[in-house]
Amino acid sequence: MQDPVASPKVTTVDHPLVQHKLTLMRDRDTALPEFRRLLREISLLLAYEVTRHLELKTVSVETPVARADLPLLARPEPCFITILRAGNGLLDGMLDLIPAASVGHLGLYRDPATLEAVEYYYKVPGDMGERLAIVVDPMLATGHTAVAALDRLKKDGAKDISFVCLVAAPEGIEALTEAHPDIPIYTAAVDERLNEKGYIVPGLGDAGDRIFGTK
Ligand code: URA
Repeated sequence: MQDPVASPKVTTVDHPLVQHKLTLMRDRDTALPEFRRLLREISLLLAYEVTRHLELKTVSVETPVARADLPLLARPEPCFITILRAGNGLLDGMLDLIPAASVGHLGLYRDPATLEAVEYYYKVPGDMGERLAIVVDPMLATGHTAVAALDRLKKDGAKDISFVCLVAAPEGIEALTEAHPDIPIYTAAVDERLNEKGYIVPGLGDAGDRIFGTK
């Protein structure tokens, strides 16, 4: 069987600045303002990577000097789909890079009885079939939420979807690639494993609490 972590669909963004910023974010002593600043910066760099393959068309532009045929995005701007609540932390940096991007929101919780993901909020643009949908959630842990989010978007007509996180567990990558082998995953790191409480090891702790200061 192919190692899912080594799959060509998994891109570990190994840019030195991404790796440096992630290490600072992992440090338990990194305070909230610094954590937020690093998250904003690293999100921008991840957005740069995930949009690397966007199609271009040629348009004719009159510069102050001459008319020229020049590249412009061929399709509507991408749509970031944030998985509530921690996904929201990735939006500021990504929107710094693509201010015209749309933002969709998806809220899911785990039913304690069935352990199934249950949707409590969903709002995305009507033209998902036309756009690159970039699903964002900082931690890919078990992968259950990510799989449910991708199921939902595909049901809604999204055809071109990528998943972006900061830190992934091998378990999450395996679950996601098994359920959605067509979806590229972009992550700054693939960590060792999940612990018995479902935290990624070494990870960075509870991403939502660290982003929103709710610990
Ligand atoms: N969610 C988090 O916020 N952190 C983890 O380590 C795993 C899931």
